[in-house]
Amino acid sequence: MTTAIYPGSYDPITYGHLNITFRAASLFDKVILALAINSSKQCLFSLEERMELMKHGIAHYSKEKNISDSNIEIAQFDGLLANFVTKYEKPVIIRGLRAVTDFESEYQMALMNRYQNYQVDTVFLIASLRYSFLSSSIVKEIARHNGNYKKLVPPAVYDRLWEKFNNRTK
Ligand code: COA
Repeated sequence: MTTAIYPGSYDPITYGHLNITFRAASLFDKVILALAINSSKQCLFSLEERMELMKHGIAHYSKEKNISDSNIEIAQFDGLLANFVTKYEKPVIIRGLRAVTDFESEYQMALMNRYQNYQVDTVFLIASLRYSFLSSSIVKEIARHNGNYKKLVPPAVYDRLWEKFNNRTK
């Protein structure tokens, strides 16, 4: 059984992440969305909020596209990704590549992860064209200025971003 581990900060999860997740789920026996705890990033959402939005996002995408989510799980991890993946049977790391500009840092991370744990390979999926301009930061920036981002994130993410930047519940 091969387990695909898709790591990230997911602050918040977007349709770009979900598209990669479900494509990985059709290729591997199991997919783990691994939420990094010790990211040096200053996050907008707490760990609990990000976990909740990831759960909602998976359920929503599965229902909307009529694709099973039965082999997708969420986990949190602290410390090195290369150590975390050893918990799983035949682990591979999944990363999405949106543009050539992603390649340099992804190349460095893939090699460093393999240097830490020579048994772990990284598999890259090319991001879907319709989401290839997306990042969590750009969505937050648009939300902060009340722009148009409704079709880029699941409904619960949209509502929570709206609430954060409008200081009231929707
Ligand atoms: N669709 C949409 N957005 C995507 C995407 C996709 N397919 N792939 C990446 N992104 C976005 C992310 O949301 C993120 O957006 P943001 O910077 O606006 O928040 C951005 O692209 C960068 O993504 P990424 O490089 O995945 O950063 P990350 O913080 O989400 O994840 C970790 C980085 C967690 C994978 C990495 O820091 C890690 O492994 N940490 C653990 C410690 C460790 O082992 N360090 C050594 C690594 S060699």
